[in-house]
Amino acid sequence: MSKPVVLVAEELSPAGIALLEPDFEVRRADGADRERLLAAVADVDAVIVRSASRIDAEVLAAARRLRVVARAGVGLDNVDVEAATQAGVMVVNAPTSNIVTAAEHAIALLLATARNVPQGHASLKRGEWQRSRYTGVELRDKTLGVLGLGRIGVLVAKRLAAFDMNVIAYDPYIQAPRAARLGVRLVSLEELLRESDFITVHLPKTQETLGLIGDRELRMVKPSVRIVNAARGGIVDEDALDLALKEKRVAGAGIDVFRGEPCTDSPLFHHDNVVVTPHLGASTHEAQERAGTQVVRSVRLALSGEFVPDA
Ligand code: NAD
Ligand code: MLT
Repeated sequence: MSKPVVLVAEELSPAGIALLEPDFEVRRADGADRERLLAAVADVDAVIVRSASRIDAEVLAAARRLRVVARAGVGLDNVDVEAATQAGVMVVNAPTSNIVTAAEHAIALLLATARNVPQGHASLKRGEWQRSRYTGVELRDKTLGVLGLGRIGVLVAKRLAAFDMNVIAYDPYIQAPRAARLGVRLVSLEELLRESDFITVHLPKTQETLGLIGDRELRMVKPSVRIVNAARGGIVDEDALDLALKEKRVAGAGIDVFRGEPCTDSPLFHHDNVVVTPHLGASTHEAQERAGTQVVRSVRLALSGEFVPDA
């Protein structure tokens, strides 16, 4: 009997591939190349993606044998889960694989914006010695506003509480006692915007959250606020943020994710007080290995018709 076919449409850790190889025929394709993806899914049983491949109704229609869409990571915003469910295709991900890595990256961006680390680094390497130009701010006793107190938001909140920050959060789906146990005060979005010295975004990208931090919201913040988005591009509206930075209504930003990716040019790149990374939130060896192995275990269970636990 022929082995089930698994299409690996993006980078997957060697450990994940090794787990697949004995029992599945492993094929490769570049999922970011739409035409290739449409052709490659035609006769596969499962497809494994990260965030660069869009699995929508068109791909699902082209994938006549598909039983599983697997996301080697957290965000499912590039997968049309509803269309997949209607087509009888199971969607699995690796929801905890990279959360510590993502939380650490958000904190790295936050510290970088507070202390101008990349700017000072670039300046010194240009042969300059500009100490006063890169004076920063402390975190201690400042208010951190966490947007989305889910898996990653909680990890960030706990870690930054150890910097003696006062942590507040906006998340209408979380009960106040749970937040209180974490030492976090739940507030409205408006209170968070008005009170925070740092805002860090940890929301999923949905119709509700896209553009949640737009022009109106950025007119409520303190001019000293620094905003980090290591969740999904577009939750903080890039044009509104650009304008707020130009008008000095925001003191800095740390941005890992963009409205359209890959993104190699953005008005945000032209602000000296904006620190950017190319969607590196999940990019550690440990997280990539976990994402690869967790997602392959889920594919294996799903293809054998077994229950797939929320890893
Ligand atoms: P999660 O589902 O555990 O947490 C999200 C939280 O947001 C939940 O508590 C939920 O109640 C809350 N929420 C949902 N809609 C909301 C709304 N409209 N208003 C306020 N709160 C709302 O997700 P997570 O694992 O913590 O991931 C958070 C984000 O980080 C996701 O967008 C994920 O894709 C992204 N992520 C990015 C990277 C990266 O490489 N940069 C890595 C991992 C995850
Ligand atoms: C995720 O949602 O897991 C991250 O954005 C990382 C990735 O895209 O692989």
